[in-house]
Formats: sequence, structure tokens, C-alpha cells
Amino acid sequence: MALSSSSSSLFLLFVLVLLAGTYSSSSAHQLSENFYAKKCPQVFSAVKSVVKSAVAKEQRIGASILRLFFHDCFVDGCDGSLLLDDTPTFKGEKTAAANNNSVRGFEVIDAIKTKVEALCPGVVSCADILAIASRDSVVLLGGPFWDVKLGRRDSRTANFTAANTGVIPPPTSNLSSLISNFKSHGLSVKDLVALSGSHTIGQARCTSFRGHIYNDTDIDPSFAKLRQKNCPRQSGTGDSNLAPLDLQTPTHFENNYYKNLINKKGLLHSDQELFNGGSTDSLVQTYSKNNKAFTSDFVTGMIKMGDILPLTGSKGEIRKNCRRMN
Ligand code: HEM
Ligand SMILES: *[C@@H]1O[C@H](CO)[C@@H](O)[C@H](O)[C@H]1NC(C)=O
Ligand SMILES: *[C@@H]1O[C@H](CO)[C@@H](O)[C@H](O)[C@H]1NC(C)=O
Ligand SMILES: *[C@@H]1O[C@H](CO)[C@@H](O)[C@H](O)[C@H]1NC(C)=O
Ligand SMILES: *[C@@H]1O[C@H](CO)[C@@H](O)[C@H](O)[C@H]1NC(C)=O
Repeated sequence: MALSSSSSSLFLLFVLVLLAGTYSSSSAHQLSENFYAKKCPQVFSAVKSVVKSAVAKEQRIGASILRLFFHDCFVDGCDGSLLLDDTPTFKGEKTAAANNNSVRGFEVIDAIKTKVEALCPGVVSCADILAIASRDSVVLLGGPFWDVKLGRRDSRTANFTAANTGVIPPPTSNLSSLISNFKSHGLSVKDLVALSGSHTIGQARCTSFRGHIYNDTDIDPSFAKLRQKNCPRQSGTGDSNLAPLDLQTPTHFENNYYKNLINKKGLLHSDQELFNGGSTDSLVQTYSKNNKAFTSDFVTGMIKMGDILPLTGSKGEIRKNCRRMN
């Protein structure tokens, strides 16, 4: 009797330890693909229809939305912090160095939020809307589809300082800083190279690539000349003049970005760093020849990036308006 009761209490203890382990691990609050299956199944068609009409109006907006997700996730996690306007109590991230006069697409996110709030009030976070809208943008521009993990909640604050001080890598970065920056966000070298393939769509301002086209030697001379035509050497002149990140097809999502790098036609200094005699050359070569390998690793990278420090459970809130905390 004494023996069996002590062995059964040992068993009970064992079960309790197991349960405690399960609950304290992050698995209790992980993101999931079916998070809105019961609460708001219409969210996917609502997001897609707004993104579709925005891209039909201006194809570049798909690129801009994808970049918003990146810049949100790299600053204290994918929590919609980038979407907040300045308030009397904190300065938002929109005017930080990596974002000022550069990030765009907030009106599209607002339009999606309005539509989703009408369907399922108070249910879908702005952080999740950004994740779904990024996927839809990639698909609409000819890239891969993936199931987006959901269940993020929205932050009640933003971090201007972080966004302003290298948490988002600048285009002047060398390869080792790019690698260590991505590593600090839990992303691998492969994630870095595959996610950089996002620069197969969209545009950059002269101020972002001036140094590369005038000062660098790892650039095709005729390409440098071509870009210099619309980007004066003198800083402060023509700073906002645009050039496509992918020379051939800046509104189509494929592996042309890597083909450009091999031909020394990367637009940003940081782009060309991925193919400049260093450790990532072979991966760039692989992606340039194999679009399937690229899109598959890109999807893996997007899912990993979307997993950065989400607010879940009772943390944060579901904002009513993506620009303001409730
Ligand atoms: C690897 C480090 C990265 C650096 C240094 C970098 C830097 C930049 C810069 C400087 C621009 C042009 C901004 C401007 O001049 O206004 C840009 C544009 C863009 N970036 Fe990146 N980026 C990086 C990674 C990424 C990642 C991981 C993504 C997405 C997952 C991304 C998506 C985009 C897109 C789509 C655009 C074009 C946006 C538009 O046309 O509005 N970038 N990036
Ligand atoms: C953002 O850009 C505007 C316009 O160029 C400039 O006036 C402002 O000072 C910049 N903001 C920050 C925080 O650098
Ligand atoms: C803002 O970002 C900085 C630098 O990454 C970090 O040290 C700080 O904890 C963040 N602040 C908040 C309020 O999250
Ligand atoms: C890369 O850039 C970092 C930061 O600017 C610098 O400290 C480092 O020396 C550079 N590394 C190489 C190999 O140039
Ligand atoms: C290019 O190099 C010159 C000389 O070192 C320097 O003064 C200038 O600031 C550089 N330009 C850019 C845009 O990096």
C-alpha cells in the first residue's frame, strides 16, 4: 500500500512536470495557419481583394507592402509597430533613418483594416494583416504562395531608436554585417540570401545606391553609367530619384535578382556584397540557375521572419485602427 501510493504520487509528479514543460515552452502561444478559421474565415478574401486592386493600380505597391513587413518584423518583432503614427508619448518608426521618405503602402493597410473590421470587428491584428498582405503581394507579382502563420497581436508602442540605429540593415552594409544582423534576428545566412531576393521587385532612391554606382569597383561599368544618368554624384541633388532594384523585371517576382548579381549589376552596395567573392557566392549561383530552389528557400525565410517575437496570448492588443493604439 505504502509502496503503491508513493509510486502513484511519483507518477503524478511526472505528469505534472510534463504538463508544466508543455505550458512553459513557447508552444502554448505559437502562431498557426488556422488561427482565424472560426473567428474570421473571410479575412483572406478581404485582404486579397484590396491588395489586388492596389497592385492593379500600381504594381510597385506590392513591393512596398512586402518591405513594410520586413521593417516591422526587424524592429522588436512582427507586432505592427511600424504602422503606428507618432503620438505625444512616443515617436513612431516611420521617420527613422531606414524608413523616412522611403516606406510606403500604409494607405493600403488602412483600407484592408477597414474592410476586415467591418467583417469581423476586433478580431484580426494589423500585424497579421501585414503578414497576409505581403504573401498576397508576392503571389500577385508572380511569386510563390505559402500558408501564413497567424495569431500575432499588435504592439502598444513603437521604437524609433531601434529603427534608427542599424536594427534594420543599411544598404552600405558589408557581407559580415549583413550576416550578423540577420543572425541577431534568428535568421541564417541562407535566409539572408533568399530573403534578399525580395529585391527582384521594387525601387530604390538614388541616396540608397549613390555610393555603389560612383565609388565601388564591384559593379559593371556600363551599368554604373546607366544608373549615374538619373542619380547625380552630388549628395542633396536628385536624392529621391528612383531606379529599379531588378534591372529587367521590377514588377515580376523571380530569380532575376541573382542573375544581376552574377553580372555585377546589383543596385545596392549590400546587394552586390552577396556575390563578391565571399561565402554566399555559391548560394547566389544556385538561386540564379534554379528558381524553384530560390522560391522554396524564400518561403522558408518568410515564415521564419514572420515568427520573430510575436505578441500572443494576452500581450498587446487588436488595434481598431492600425495607426493608433486603442
Ligand atoms: C539584406 C538586407 C537588406 C537591405 C540592406 C535592404 C535595403 C533596401 C533599400 C536601401 C531599399 C530602397 C529604399 C529606398 O531607397 O527608398 C530597399 C527596398 C526594398 N526592400 Fe530591402 N533591404 C534588405 C532586405 C530586404 C528584405 C529581407 C526584404 C523583404 C523580405 C526586402 C524588401 C524590399 C523591397 C520589396 C523593396 C522595394 C520597396 C519599394 O519599391 O517600395 N529587403 N531595401
Ligand atoms: C525625415 O525627412 C524629412 C523630409 O526630408 C525631414 O524634414 C525630417 O527631418 C526627417 N526626419 C528625421 C527624423 O530624420
Ligand atoms: C528599443 O530598441 C532598443 C534597441 O534595439 C532596445 O534596446 C529597447 O529595449 C527597445 N525599447 C523598447 C521599449 O522596446
Ligand atoms: C564590415 O562593416 C563593419 C561595420 O561597419 C566593420 O566594423 C567591419 O570592419 C567591416 N568588415 C569588413 C570585412 O570590411
Ligand atoms: C565616395 O567616395 C568619396 C571619396 O572617398 C567620398 O567623399 C564620398 O562621400 C563617397 N560617396 C558616397 C555616396 O559614398
